[in-house]
Formats: sequence, C-alpha cells, structure tokens
Amino acid sequence: MRSTTIVSTVSLVAVVSAAVILAMSQQEQDPPEPATPVAQGARLFRIQGCAVCHAIGNGASRGPNLAGLVPRLEQRLDPEQYQRQMAGIRKKRPDVYQQYEGVYTDILARDGEERLRAWLTAHLRNPRFDFPEGKMPNYGHLTPQQVESLIEFLLTLK
Ligand code: HEC
Repeated sequence: MRSTTIVSTVSLVAVVSAAVILAMSQQEQDPPEPATPVAQGARLFRIQGCAVCHAIGNGASRGPNLAGLVPRLEQRLDPEQYQRQMAGIRKKRPDVYQQYEGVYTDILARDGEERLRAWLTAHLRNPRFDFPEGKMPNYGHLTPQQVESLIEFLLTLK
C-alpha cells in the first residue's frame, strides 16, 4: 500500500469514528421525547420530583398517594362542597380568598374534566391557592406545555 493510501484510510477511519462517537453522545444527551402527552407527563412526574412525595398505588408516600386521584378530585370539586370550603377560606384567610377569588369562580364555571384541569393548573402554579396551610412546593417554573402534559398524565389516575 502506498503511504498516501494509508494516510487517507487512516483519516477516513478517524472521521467515521468521530461521527459515530458524536452521534452516540448526542443520543445520550437528548433522549428522544416520549411520543404522547401522557408519556411526556409521566416522564415529567419523575424528573420534576413529584414521585419523591407521591406514590401511585404501592409504596410509602409523604404527600397524598395519587392512586384514584380523578374520582377524589371530582368529589372535592363538587360545586356545593367547594363553595363551602371557599367560604371557610374567606373567613380564615381573607387575603388568600381575595387574591384567588377569580380562580375559584373560573374552576366552578367549568364542567367535568375541564374543571379538574383548571384546578390542577392552579394547584401546580401554587398549591396554597385554595389550601393555605399546604406543604407542596410551587411549580410555577413549568411551561404551559409541561403543565398540560403533566395534567394529561394525572387525568389517567382513575
Ligand atoms: C415535597 C413534597 C411534594 C412534591 C415534590 C410534590 N407534591 Fe404534590 N402534594 C404534596 C402534599 C403534601 C400535598 C397535599 C396538599 C398540600 O399539602 O399542599 C400534595 C397534593 C397534590 C395533589 C392533590 C392530591 C389529592 O389527592 O388531593 C396533586 C394532584 C399533586 N400534589 C401533584 C403533584 C405533582 C404533579 C407534583 C410534581 C410536579 C407534585 N405534586 C410534587 C407534596 C408534594
């Protein structure tokens, strides 16, 4: 083999391996986004630390276990019951009531799943909006799209 052929073979091998290594490292940095909003929400539930406090089904749970979340929320957001809870806040924490009265009204103006979505959106932004003594951290840093995916996932917890 002539030396120029050897040199070009060696550099070809180098270029190809560099490309392979680059492709592999990029794959490591950017795992493909899960396809559906529910799968994206399930991933966010893990990487945003929700799972640290919330078991779903089996396991210890610092916060409420989120198994059966949807029927529980439906019950809690029954208009009569929710209005009673809001009247309690109005008495005990008029400052919180005044700040979030519009949000309570908006939640109650919606029906079915839309009411749960409105509540979950407000809860992620500030879990103390209707439960002033709550312990869950705020998730106001999530993008609207991340909130939407998380909610799609949470709405599967029936
Ligand atoms: C540090 C612990 C902690 C983390 C992290 C946390 N939560 Fe919570 N969560 C709580 C607690 C405690 C409550 C009960 C209400 C309260 O104290 O605010 C709660 C309540 C809830 C509820 C209402 C449950 C019910 O049955 O009424 C939902 C839904 C929820 N969290 C979803 C999430 C999601 C989604 C995340 C991540 C984006 C998250 N939580 C992160 C502690 C946490």
